[in-house]
Amino acid sequence: MEKLAFREVLAMKHITTTHLTSMKARGEKVVMVTAYDYPTACLVDEAGVDVVLVGDSLGMVVLGYETTLPVTIEEMLHHTKAVVRGVKHALVVADLPFLTYQTGPEDATRNAGRIIKEGGATAVKLEGGIEVCPQVHTLVSAGIPVVGHVGLTPQSIHVFGGYKLQGRGEQAVQKLLADARALEAAGVFCLVLECIPEEVAARITEALIIPTVGIGAGGRCDGQVLVLHDLLGITSQMKNSSAEPIHPPRFVKEYAHLGEMIREAVKQYSSEVRSGAFPAAEHTFYSSDSSASSVTSSAKTPTGAAGRK
Ligand code: KIV
Repeated sequence: MEKLAFREVLAMKHITTTHLTSMKARGEKVVMVTAYDYPTACLVDEAGVDVVLVGDSLGMVVLGYETTLPVTIEEMLHHTKAVVRGVKHALVVADLPFLTYQTGPEDATRNAGRIIKEGGATAVKLEGGIEVCPQVHTLVSAGIPVVGHVGLTPQSIHVFGGYKLQGRGEQAVQKLLADARALEAAGVFCLVLECIPEEVAARITEALIIPTVGIGAGGRCDGQVLVLHDLLGITSQMKNSSAEPIHPPRFVKEYAHLGEMIREAVKQYSSEVRSGAFPAAEHTFYSSDSSASSVTSSAKTPTGAAGRK
């Protein structure tokens, strides 16, 4: 039988935590992206990403909060369940929101346990360094895989005084290296590095056996993660609650302009409803139509309101 490439084998199976470590050993980049609902989870999974992250960025991206701080465990569960229903191959990781784990290993176990048991995620992510290692150790001992997150950790935004580049100066670099090593020793299977200089990310990546996944951390990490709405060009078309335009960070690359496309499509729909151009004959049922008992135009699952009943 013809030998399959490692990536082809992975594509057939659900990706596991140990796959990610072996990807680093093989020099294969880890692809991570966020998703917060069923349709985008289906699409990013079909696109072949390795990890789908239900990030607490959902607070800002889909719930309209100013920061990630108000996100609750119930909100994370609601979105995690939807994403898990859509993902067939990728590893699903869900964020533990602010103050659901910083308060100690017991709270961390209860809340991470809900994300795994009720939400159906395979792993949780939490922010912080040495100070959260007791939580990481307890979770891993309880059978809950954990992803770490250091550098710019958005749940500490008020301590940092804004969304600023971290890891500047040798003291800050040594602190990041110590945090990363301590997290690996405590049992994280992957580490997100956010908003740090590329050279610093490279030093951390070389110091660890587990893969690092960067966001705003340059190209020398073991993988990359982006917020889906940033890479699709939706965020740059959004406004904050004070109606000011949102400017995505410099590390974002837009691979599509869906924000503009959505606005234009809905403008066109509105104009056609107002002019009477929609619905046309092909979207309309007639009493004389013999095929009218089927609401779909093909064998696919119906998507209209009638089809969902
Ligand atoms: O919440 C999130 O989306 C994240 C990524 C930016 C890494 O933590």
